[in-house]
Amino acid sequence: MDLTPYLLPKKPVVPIMKRAIAPKPTKNFIWNLLYGDIQRLQAMKSLDAACGQLRNYWMFTKGAYCGLDRTYSQLVYGQQGANNRRLINQRGRDNIELVCGDMERHLDSLGEFDLCVSTGTIEYIDNAVTVLGSLSDTIHKAGNLLISMSGKMNLTETIVDYLISQYEIVELIYMQSHEVHEWEQSYNRQQQPSGKQKAADFSVYSIPEAKIKEMTFYEMSLPNVAELHMGIYVRALNKNNEVTRLKKEKEGALTDDGIFVFKDMDLLSWGKPQAKFSVKKPVL
Ligand SMILES: C[S@@+](CC[C@H](N)C(=O)[O-])C[C@H]1O[C@@H](n2cnc3c(N)ncnc32)[C@H](O)[C@@H]1O
Repeated sequence: MDLTPYLLPKKPVVPIMKRAIAPKPTKNFIWNLLYGDIQRLQAMKSLDAACGQLRNYWMFTKGAYCGLDRTYSQLVYGQQGANNRRLINQRGRDNIELVCGDMERHLDSLGEFDLCVSTGTIEYIDNAVTVLGSLSDTIHKAGNLLISMSGKMNLTETIVDYLISQYEIVELIYMQSHEVHEWEQSYNRQQQPSGKQKAADFSVYSIPEAKIKEMTFYEMSLPNVAELHMGIYVRALNKNNEVTRLKKEKEGALTDDGIFVFKDMDLLSWGKPQAKFSVKKPVL
């Protein structure tokens, strides 16, 4: 399939926040882009599918937010983080629903949304296109879907082929250029501390903010072509049809952490608690 008609002729030049909102330029670009899109779309009810530790939550400044993830501990750490705790208090607990469930099994009992976002996950799911179909099926007519993923060509083609049958507008924006990614890697290597401290501890968080910003602008200025990049951001806008799938009852229970767990979730998928946090076994 020829993707050219769906490629924006240039990468969008989005306003970049004064403070870096991600530790790497490649992510800083895409998070600013995603934030701008979420603000522009003004959804009343949004689904963050495979939300992990709720890193996207702050971007949903309006309406109700539903975060779905299959790893229970991710949801717990996510809502325990200081920033998310503050935002949950500010926006009201009634405006956030956290659900421990599987995108491959539970999407048809989650309800309906105006916007669905999924970042960094679709490409790892075996039947990605089926899952994308179920995700899309939760979206109202005229609603929108935003996906970021690594740009596997075959997957992108299949996904676009499906999306153009469902949405009025499909736009592709390439992200994570090889060049900036290489730079991030080499910066990391140069900064590796000697001795016992692991490189991972030092991490890219040590890239100075001014440099992140400079490289973010560089990333934005690159031509919007697959060859230069590793990842892709997909906008599917203005869905053509209503939600069609028969809705199932949501079967499960709320835990002490305020997280809804589908009753057929495998306990192992609740994840290993990290040392910093003590996560009790949820009480159903
Ligand atoms: C790479 S993380 C991305 C998290 C988040 N979207 C972000 O950008 O920070 C992948 C997340 O997907 C979740 N996940 C993977 N497969 C899933 C599935 N089938 N259903 C629900 N969550 C899933 C994992 O538990 C993990 O939290």
